[in-house]
Amino acid sequence: MAGRRRALLGGLAFAGLASLAFAAELPIRAARWIKGADPVATLTTAPPECLRQPLDGKARQSIEIGRAVFRSPTLLGGQAARAGVSCESCHRSGRGNPAFSFPGLSGEPGTADVTSALFSSFRDDGVFNPKPIPDLAAPKEARADMEGFLHGLVVEEFNGVPPPPEVMQGLADYVRAIDPKVCPPVTSRPVTLRRGLEDARRAVDAARAAQNSQVAVILIQAARSMLGEVDERYAGNDPARALIRQSSRDLAIVESEIRAGRPGAKDGLVLWLARSATLETTLARTENRSLYDPATVQAALDRP
Ligand code: HEC
Repeated sequence: MAGRRRALLGGLAFAGLASLAFAAELPIRAARWIKGADPVATLTTAPPECLRQPLDGKARQSIEIGRAVFRSPTLLGGQAARAGVSCESCHRSGRGNPAFSFPGLSGEPGTADVTSALFSSFRDDGVFNPKPIPDLAAPKEARADMEGFLHGLVVEEFNGVPPPPEVMQGLADYVRAIDPKVCPPVTSRPVTLRRGLEDARRAVDAARAAQNSQVAVILIQAARSMLGEVDERYAGNDPARALIRQSSRDLAIVESEIRAGRPGAKDGLVLWLARSATLETTLARTENRSLYDPATVQAALDRP
């Protein structure tokens, strides 16, 4: 079945159309946990990020580590990670997600029960009590113990194993750098190829700068998961997908070289960053036929 689908999609790509054979199930992961009046807007726009950028290089690096893992399901364990859920799934661009709806976890769209057995066996309170997902850029009392709070979230709520201290510190620094005072004066921004690849480049750049190789590996995995999101948007366009997958394999090779402790392994990241510009130029040519394009998403949803 899957093979036949793939063959069919390949044929359509040659017909010059980024078409989708299966409409009801859009091949975008995030489409599985949204519900609401306007799925096209939900999938093709996002709230703007409100991120303070410190001048100090070390502080910046820590925030970049946090920014990458915030967007990566590898941070979370158990069911959440298997479903592909990351902090970003609920807190889009570090904000909220009024359309979030996950069976067994959400009540009204925009709510989640983060003390549910589905996400955590440690903190399951046996009660279905979904809460509104807060906008992390809403003005709030400073949390004195952000590290403790996030540790509870990552290690307890999501059955994760403790990540290296740099990663937890980065996550806390990222959440603290989300600041309502620097919110751009727009309510939403288009989700684009450029932003998708830029997220991956930022993660790879942070991996390049990371002192600890375990941290570098986690960041490369985050970047590969971001490339996976770009890949989804090119469903039906096999030539584009082949390039994206090659780019992801290139990162996997660097990852294994870093794991093996090969001297100079990180040079591969510099090369990858340079090549990502060419990848972007090539993919941009068919972006208007990809699932970044609102009309293409609408057409895919309309197809019976
Ligand atoms: C399944 C959806 C979901 C995921 C995934 C999720 N959160 Fe949340 N988050 C929530 C909800 C719901 C609350 C509110 C909980 C409450 O009120 O008890 C919350 C609360 C928070 C708060 C407190 C905000 C405040 O104003 O006090 C922070 C900080 C936070 N989350 C960060 C994160 C980080 C970092 C991650 C990833 C490790 C994450 N969240 C993953 C749904 C989620």
